[in-house]
Amino acid sequence: MFRAIILGGTLALGAAGSALAHGDGAPAPIATDGLPSLGEDFKTQNPYRGNDLAVRIGEGGYNQNCARCHGLDVKSGGMAPDLRELTSDETGDSWFAARVTGGATKDGRVRMPPFGEILSQEAIWAIRTYVESRPKD
Ligand code: HEC
Repeated sequence: MFRAIILGGTLALGAAGSALAHGDGAPAPIATDGLPSLGEDFKTQNPYRGNDLAVRIGEGGYNQNCARCHGLDVKSGGMAPDLRELTSDETGDSWFAARVTGGATKDGRVRMPPFGEILSQEAIWAIRTYVESRPKD
């Protein structure tokens, strides 16, 4: 347990360093200063819905971690689902959180990497808030 935490921390720091150096879309943690802390237990609904700061923080987190597959401005180019289609309720929220923390594997191939060790709960809900702020066209 202890070792896993140290390892996770090291990986996260490494990813942050390379992101600062290149901004290359590699998975990287994001700072969520100014947002209410959420504690250990994962929420089942987005606690930041309607929070403008969460939208701004989430935009940076999305562009760094998600846009290369889910599309710039959350407009899917077809290689991954359009995240604007998820409903803004507990069903959509819990599905979003489960997928982002756990990723997705099909027939033994990783289609989406898990972000549970990279992004804090605060970061994940900030990204969710940004996604929900995008118009469905
Ligand atoms: C390497 C490409 C890739 C990256 C990076 C990626 N995803 Fe995904 N994501 C996918 C694919 C592919 C699927 C579909 C998986 C499946 O259902 O088999 C998916 C599915 C999802 C789903 C479920 C959507 C649905 O309609 O069922 C959510 C939510 C999601 N991703 C959010 C995110 C977020 C948020 C990020 C950034 C933190 C992210 N993804 C980063 C490729 C990616």
